[in-house]
Order: sequence, then structure tokens, then C-alpha cells
Amino acid sequence: MDLQDKKVLLGVSGGIAAYKAIELASMLYKSGAQIKTIMTDSARELVSAVNFSAITHGTVHHSQFHDSDPIPHINLADWADIVVIAPATANIMAKAANGIADDLLSSTLLACTSPILWIPAMNVHMYDNLATQDNIAILRKRGHFVLKPATGLLACGYDGKGKYPPNQEVIAAIKTYLHYGYDLSGKKILVTAGACSEDIDPMRCITNKSSGMTGLSIARAASLRGAEVSLVYADIKDEIPYHLSMAILAKSSADMHKAVVELATNHDTIIMCAAVSDYKPLEVAQSKIKKGNDISLDLIQTVDILKEVSKRRTSGQKIIGFAAETDQIEENAREKLSRKQLDLIVANDLVVAGKDHSEQIFISNTDTIKEKGDKFTLAHKLLDRINKL
Ligand code: CTP
Repeated sequence: MDLQDKKVLLGVSGGIAAYKAIELASMLYKSGAQIKTIMTDSARELVSAVNFSAITHGTVHHSQFHDSDPIPHINLADWADIVVIAPATANIMAKAANGIADDLLSSTLLACTSPILWIPAMNVHMYDNLATQDNIAILRKRGHFVLKPATGLLACGYDGKGKYPPNQEVIAAIKTYLHYGYDLSGKKILVTAGACSEDIDPMRCITNKSSGMTGLSIARAASLRGAEVSLVYADIKDEIPYHLSMAILAKSSADMHKAVVELATNHDTIIMCAAVSDYKPLEVAQSKIKKGNDISLDLIQTVDILKEVSKRRTSGQKIIGFAAETDQIEENAREKLSRKQLDLIVANDLVVAGKDHSEQIFISNTDTIKEKGDKFTLAHKLLDRINKL
């Protein structure tokens, strides 16, 4: 799912976050996309067109009448594989929702038949205003994609909704909406991710090498496709997508067991991606264990959360497990599929697994599909497969 040679038309409107569109342009350029930029008059008050032309090596447009092309709005609209308005002000969304075409960006949007992705960023009251919310609802109803803003300290001094999201999430959204829509809306998906750890004493623990990237990619992809996603996570090496419905930290297998059992019945799909510890110390020392003679640890088994959730499954619920293996990959995964009574298991070969690229085998009772790619692409493919179960 790369952006190589994808034609991205970047629309920059006049929000304070316009400077963040410069970083977005740079990330798009580095990922191989072709970029053309349209700036509104207000955006030109905030950032320079030279930033975009130098970074994207593409053209920057702002005027309907003073452009080298006599009909720029039609030709730019026809050129684009996707249009991304980042940041999107309340004003440009209001214009698009009402079919107003009084400058180059709004005219191009009216002429565009490719996917349109909005990245709203503004003051919390402007965002919450019913006029803005109604306009967003209209745009969504017409098939546009609108990314939720993040929450945090805003340029205006307020702390709330309306923050420009991390550009990593904008890039993931662009990749998603070039291929998918909100096809998972109405679904409630529970994903677990990361490496659980079991305390030995206040300083030491037993853990594993899972980065949590696979689970995060699945949660991110499902949420962008419109699902309500709850994430239960242990130790992970990346930022949690801000647009998930819920994210609960559960460091140990016992914490994860509690959280998953509490949430399970409220979800129609459960994807257990976390690397849950199979064993934990029989006793946790309350003080740091001091160095001395050789010692041994007594370990006891943890609860198999996946097996338990599968046993208690509600009607129509889909339960998906993972099997990270080094030997007899398919055989071991099939045994887990049957022992844990799953709808699907994803087998990973730990020997070939890379930081981002990976090979996965989706095994159900009816078929076996081998897939390769980056983790975000594999996440989308897994969601496609689950959709067909
Ligand atoms: N799992 C779980 N609870 C555990 C252990 C594992 O829910 N205590 C889940 C994992 O999240 C994964 C699946 O079970 O989806 C398979 O985990 P894995 O460690 O590969 O298999 P195990 O059943 O633990 O068997 P083994 O470690 O012997 O391969």
C-alpha cells in the first residue's frame, strides 16, 4: 500500500496548522507521491507557497484567473487520485458542503470526482458548532472522508478537540481512502496488542520481543474504515492512533485478561494480537532481589485469554487469534485454530518477520491464504478476510 506515483492534490486552507501541511507535503514527497498544491488566500497569509513548491517539486496554485492553465480547477480536479485538505478550516468545509465555488480550492472540490479527505483543525467551539458538525455530516453523507481532529492544547489557548492530527495518521488515512471507504462502520472491534510483562520484583520482569506494531496497524486500519475500535495494549513501541474509540493499558496477562473479558461481549469481532505471557512467577518479590547465590524462579501458567473468550463467545461473534512460530508454522497454527475454536488464525514466521515488512498466513477452516507486505497493508488484508468470514 505505497504512495509511489500516486497523484495527491494538497489543498491548504487558512488555519494556524497550515505549517503542519509543510511536513505532510514532505512526507508525501518522500513516499514517492506526486504532489500539486492549492493554497487559499488565507493560507498564503500564514505560510509561503515556496515551502510547498520547493518541498514537493510540484506546482502550487492559488488563483483561478492568474494561473498558467486557463481552467486550473477542472484540470487539477481531473489530475488528482485523491484530494487532501490539510488543514481544513470550518469555512472551506462550509463552502464545499453548500456547493459554493468562489475561489480555486472550492471550485476544484466541486469539480472533483476522486476521493476527498478532510483534515479539520480549528478552535474547539468552532469545531463543535452545529454549523460545522452539520457540514461535516453532509460531506460524509456525500462520500467524503473526514478525519477526526485530535484533542490537546490548541493554538488559541483552549485545551480540547480541534488539534491537527499527527501526520503519520494523515498518511495512513490517505493510503486507506485510496482503496477503501467506511466499509466497517457499525462494527465494533476489540484488538489486543503489544508485549505483556510479568513482574519478578519491583525492578525486573519477564517479557517478550513483540513491538505491538501489528496490533496497532490493525486497530488503525479498522478505525479509519469506520469501525468502533477498542484497543487493549501492553508494552508497545509506537504511538496509539488518537482516533480509536477506546485504549486501555493492560501490562500483565492478568490485567489483559480482566480488560478483555469485561469488554468482549460488547464487540462483534475480537482480534487477539497481543503477545500474552504463557507463564508468570508463582510469587512476586516485594523488595528487589539482591545478588547472591544462583537462584531459580518458579513459574505458573497464565490464563489463555483467547481460549476463554472463544469459549464464552456470543452469537455471531468472530474470534481471531495469532500464532507466532519458528517451526512448522502452518501445522502449529492449525492446531491452535482447532484447540482454541477460532474463526481465523494468523500465522507469523518469526524467522522472516521484519520490523515493518512481514509474511502472514490467514488460516480458517475453509481456506489458507498467504500474504506479504508492510504491516498496514497486511492489516487491511486481514480485515478484508475477516469481513468475508
Ligand atoms: N494467547 C492468549 N493468552 C495466553 C497466551 C496466548 O490469549 N495466555 C493468545 C495470543 O494473543 C494469540 C494466541 O493466543 O492470539 C496464540 O498465542 P501463542 O503464544 O502463539 O500460542 P500459545 O497458545 O501460547 O502456545 P505456544 O506459546 O506454546 O506456541
